[in-house]
Amino acid sequence: MFFEKNLLGLDIGSQSIKMVDIEKTRNGYQLKSLGVGLIPAECIVDKDIMDSETVVDTVKNLRENLKVKARGSATAISGHSVIVKKAELPIMNEGELRQSLPIEAEQYIPFDINDVYLDTFILGESIERTDMMDVLFVAAKRELVDEYASAVRNAGLKPMLIDIDVFSLETMYEANYPDAPENIVALVDAGASMINVNILKDGMSIFARDISMGGRQLTERIQREFNVSFERAENIKTGANIEGIDLEKINYIFKMAAETYVQEIRRTLDFFLSTMVNENIEKIYMSGGSSRIPGLTKLLEKQMEIPVEIINPFNNIRWDDRVFDPEYMAYIAPQMAVAVGLALRRADYKW
Ligand SMILES: Nc1ncnc2c1ncn2[C@@H]1O[C@H](COP(=O)(O)OP(=O)(O)OP(=O)(O)O)[C@@H](O)[C@H]1O
Ligand SMILES: [Mg+2]
Repeated sequence: MFFEKNLLGLDIGSQSIKMVDIEKTRNGYQLKSLGVGLIPAECIVDKDIMDSETVVDTVKNLRENLKVKARGSATAISGHSVIVKKAELPIMNEGELRQSLPIEAEQYIPFDINDVYLDTFILGESIERTDMMDVLFVAAKRELVDEYASAVRNAGLKPMLIDIDVFSLETMYEANYPDAPENIVALVDAGASMINVNILKDGMSIFARDISMGGRQLTERIQREFNVSFERAENIKTGANIEGIDLEKINYIFKMAAETYVQEIRRTLDFFLSTMVNENIEKIYMSGGSSRIPGLTKLLEKQMEIPVEIINPFNNIRWDDRVFDPEYMAYIAPQMAVAVGLALRRADYKW
């Protein structure tokens, strides 16, 4: 069987579709192309594809504009149809685990086992008991996976891999920060409809959660407060068009939004910390368009008393500044985190 080595990273977000092509050379990673296509608000709701045609057309346009040759692509899903759970099981090998997977998973996965695709990872020996091991269960509703796969296929690409947003973040982090001194880090991607959280210990995911909260709610608030269209509200939000806007009022709205975000992220991180003994999160890396909400990272840092940094998914990836505008790259970087992680996956990856 022939496997294409380089997969095209395709992040189908609720507000925009990101496409990234990265070449792995002997001297490391090299960015070949990058593009973003906006999609209307009603196109993807709660991570379900409502308007498949628009998604397909947007992907096709990106492919054409970027003149992308790669056909095999990696895309990711997240949200309420995806479950990632850690469990403790008696020590067994990979083959045995795979065999008992449906039975074991039934206890941890709140869906009908027949409706989901299942997968599992052995994380290693349990800390508390030497005869047990930690395992990560992943379940995704078949309907959702098939929906994304068929959109990719209809856009003329081969869906070689359907990943989970939080794991793409992990791949991106590993490639870009291989020498980071921290043992426990939290990766937090705040997008338009979701906040994806992945906590890594020694480079392995030990806790993952999706929070149903996103920048769209903030856009809608701005729409209501200023009685403007969705597009105008987005422009106000990003500072692209603030003509005639009461700055005090908008700053107040940002402040409230930052507080709500911090509260939600904090609740999740505190829950994780409550399950750990003598362990601390040493750093929080943020990504996603909503990480730009004014004051958000500062407030999170202050309340959690943990350093917060906006992640750079191109930290370890070379790009030509004659091809890519450095100013645009600096701006768009946090939104490309998931797409870069996907572009770094390989078709022959284990799962
Ligand atoms: N400067 C800014 N200030 C505040 N919010 C911003 C800014 N720039 C972008 N955003 C918000 O970021 C969101 C888009 O981010 P992103 O591209 O990461 O989302 P997505 O991947 O499409 O969505 P999701 O992953 O939730 O499905 C939008 O809600 C947008 O309004
Ligand atoms: Mg996203």
